[in-house]
Parts: sequence; structure tokens; C-alpha cells
Amino acid sequence: MNSFDFSTKIASKRFENPIFTASGCASSGQELSQFFPLSEIGAIVTKSIMNKPRTGRITPRMAETPSGMLNSIGLQGPGIDLFLERDIPWLVENKAKVVVSIAGESVDEYGVLARRLRAVQGISAIEVNISCPNVENRGQVFACQPDTASAVIETVRRNIGGELPIIAKLSPDVTDIVEIAASVIKAGVDGLALINTLLGMVIDLNTMQPKLGGKTGGLSGPAIRPIAVRAIYQVHQAFPNTPIVGMGGVSNGRDALELVLAGATAISVGTATFSDPTAVIKIRDELKSLLIERGFTDFKSAIGYAHRQSA
Ligand code: SIN
Repeated sequence: MNSFDFSTKIASKRFENPIFTASGCASSGQELSQFFPLSEIGAIVTKSIMNKPRTGRITPRMAETPSGMLNSIGLQGPGIDLFLERDIPWLVENKAKVVVSIAGESVDEYGVLARRLRAVQGISAIEVNISCPNVENRGQVFACQPDTASAVIETVRRNIGGELPIIAKLSPDVTDIVEIAASVIKAGVDGLALINTLLGMVIDLNTMQPKLGGKTGGLSGPAIRPIAVRAIYQVHQAFPNTPIVGMGGVSNGRDALELVLAGATAISVGTATFSDPTAVIKIRDELKSLLIERGFTDFKSAIGYAHRQSA
């Protein structure tokens, strides 16, 4: 059991194991650290940070759905200044591997954020969130069009400089996710995060009005897992050498394994953390056991295995 190599890589960066948090579901890790040492998971992916502090959308911001939930947070956060002053040093002190997620209202804002992050020590990668569904207008979901998606990534690439891997977080709310993936790969990403939430709505039958203050929200949880598996499978088939951080309704080791077999290089756990803050640790251990049971001696050999069998 000890000889099993559970490590994974995104570009030049090595992670001890492939289980990450999902952006937005564990802030910058402080709450989770009371349940386990953050160094025990592959990485903390921080809540997408913007240039200025932001209060987010009006409440209510969450609604339960069959096998999932809707969120309409609206990128609430402290802004880059406080994040760099408070959260990054705390994460480094706690020996966490850190993937910083960034979001912007304009291409320029992404460039500004990349410049602020380029020389910061203790960051393993940047997740460029171009797919938040809870923005003022759909034109700001940069990941819905190949040209706007690539414009953001080109700007981040130019401003981030040398070494830091860039991961683009894409939306499943598109006709052809492979086309969007192709555009951001051409623009210089080192990896992809698949998938963000899907745009949804719930109507309260008593008030007969949308339940969420912002009316629409992002659907996550087990209900979206088959969509994540499909998107990861399609993109891995087209770009087998591009690392994919897979996410979407992973609640146990079997779910994680499904995404890995489809082509995920790492797995982010989000919604499951709300009902069990130790879910990331349980999923990490279950995934390792499942891989060993299936005769794998390292994690990397399982990535995209479903393609090899169906070729
Ligand atoms: C939010 O803060 O509204 C969610 C962010 C996201 O889904 O990208």
C-alpha cells in the first residue's frame, strides 16, 4: 500500500495527491483546518478573488434541489489586497499547497490580478475563473465564447510571467466545450478546470417567485456529475496531454474514480464539503483504495483509462 504513487502533476508543479478543494466551497481553507491539516490534501483552491472587495448578490443565495443545490453568491470576497496580506501567508504557514482562483469583470481586471500574483511566494497555480454564472450579464461569462475566453487567458499569460501554471475554469453551459478548450489552450493555459456549475432556477410555490434573490444560480452536486464526466471525457479525448482538474458532484471515492477514468488529472471536491467537512479526506482515501483494488501502482496510470478501453 505504501509503495503506491498517489502524486499528480500540473505542468511543472507536483501535488502529493490528486484531491483538491473546489473554489468557493472552502474559502481560503481556514474553516476546514479545524477538521484536518490542510497539508494532507493535494491543494486548496481558494474562492475566486477579484480586485476590489465585493459583497456579492442579494439573499437568499442558496436553494436545495434534487441531488444538488443552487448558489447565487456573486463572487463575494475580500479583494486582492486583503487576500494577499491575510490569506496567502496563513495558507503558507499551514503548509497548504495553494491554487489561487481569480475572477474579473473585464479582461483588464484579470490582467491586474495576474500582475499582483506573479511574484507571490507559496502559490502552485492560478485558476482563471472565466465561467462564474452569477454575474450581472451573460457577456461577462467569458468562457461562453472562444474569443472572449482566449482574450482573458492571453492577458493573464502575458501578465503572470514565467513559471506559474494557469488553469482555465470552463462552463458546461456551451454547445461545444471542446471548442472553448481549444481556444484557451491556444492562448496558453497549462490546464483546465472542468466543470463550473450550470445555470439554473428554482421557483418557490408558496411565494410563486424565484427562491434565489438573484433569481438564477449555479447548480452543483451529484445531479451534475454525468455532465462533468462527459465534458472531461470529450476534452481529454481531444487534448490528452492537457491536465484537467475535474469537478462536479464528487461525493465519494467512486465518483472521483469515474472522473479520473474519463481523463481528470486531479479532482476538486466542493458541494460534498457542506454536508461533511472531512469529505475531501474520505474521498482521497477511498480513491486510493479503489485504484489499488484495481491493480494500479500509481495514480497517473488511471488518468483517462476509459479511453484506452474503448479505443
Ligand atoms: C459565485 O460566487 O457566485 C460562484 C462562483 C462560480 O461559480 O464561479
